[in-house]
Amino acid sequence: MPKNKNFNYALFGNPVNHSRSPEIHDFFSKQTGILHIYEAINVPLDRFSLLVSDFFKNNISGANVTSPFKKEAYFFSDKLSERAQIAKSVNTLKKVDNQYVLGDNTDGIGLLSDLKRLKFIKKNFSVLILGAGGAVQGVLLSILSMGCSVYILNRTDLNALNLVNQFKKYGNIKIFKTNSFKKKYFDLVINGLSRNIQYENIFIPLNLFSSKTFFYDMNYGSDKTSFLNWCKKINAKYVSDGIGMLVFQAAHSFLEWHGIFPKIDYIINLLNQKSF
Ligand SMILES: NC(=O)c1ccc[n+]([C@@H]2O[C@H](COP(=O)([O-])OP(=O)(O)OC[C@H]3O[C@@H](n4cnc5c(N)ncnc54)[C@H](OP(=O)(O)O)[C@@H]3O)[C@@H](O)[C@H]2O)c1
Repeated sequence: MPKNKNFNYALFGNPVNHSRSPEIHDFFSKQTGILHIYEAINVPLDRFSLLVSDFFKNNISGANVTSPFKKEAYFFSDKLSERAQIAKSVNTLKKVDNQYVLGDNTDGIGLLSDLKRLKFIKKNFSVLILGAGGAVQGVLLSILSMGCSVYILNRTDLNALNLVNQFKKYGNIKIFKTNSFKKKYFDLVINGLSRNIQYENIFIPLNLFSSKTFFYDMNYGSDKTSFLNWCKKINAKYVSDGIGMLVFQAAHSFLEWHGIFPKIDYIINLLNQKSF
């Protein structure tokens, strides 16, 4: 249950106990002086709509939604932003004029902003994406909007194929097959697989990386994520975890709710220094 009964913004997910979002939003509130009390709420798997509609009727003005409820949040929303409509996935909810709930998705812009901050992305890059889950669904539009060619590599081909069909009208996107990639190497690899994968046990086309390839993990953590450990083993030079994406997607939600984009560089540095 919430620590502070007066919260007016929330994160809904299951589990949420290790989320860094409350800490990030607390920084935003202090920095901007906006009354923004943000609580993480663990929602029982079968109670999302019931519980969230109750919170919206009562105390809250906006919320973030995390795994496994982004799809349910999409159906829960009364209206959708264009990017949420295309992604068919919602991570940000906002009560508008006390009348309806708007659903948005800030994961894509969050990832793209961080890739730009790190100088990990350029127009027309060849990008290998590992995974075809909710996180990848939320970010594909942003990567395709850079004119990048996207190749998806996933355990279950059907899930990758569904994403290719969903996004093919927005750019160049294919399932990765060894013989379908005609360039020498990938410019960027984005990892969207679940946290504790054994990378040694899955097929990744090592011959298609160069010393200039950028590696970005959407996962984050103080002890290096398993993907970052794997990157070290293959001597990757340019690597990053997803803490910057987390802060940027939070900042874009904050902008949606309050019309102000917080300063974030020092928050990313602070979170990188702190263990959790
Ligand atoms: N930094 C951020 O702001 C941010 C934002 C969103 C998400 N994330 C992180 O991104 C990660 C993925 O989230 P998600 O919502 O996309 O999860 P998800 O929907 O559950 O998708 C998980 C993906 O991992 C694959 N997978 C799971 N177990 C596997 C295994 N043993 N071997 C190979 N592949 C496996 C799944 O493949 P199948 O399709 O075959 O099942 C799927 O592609 C999470 O750890 C999340 O915390 C970070």
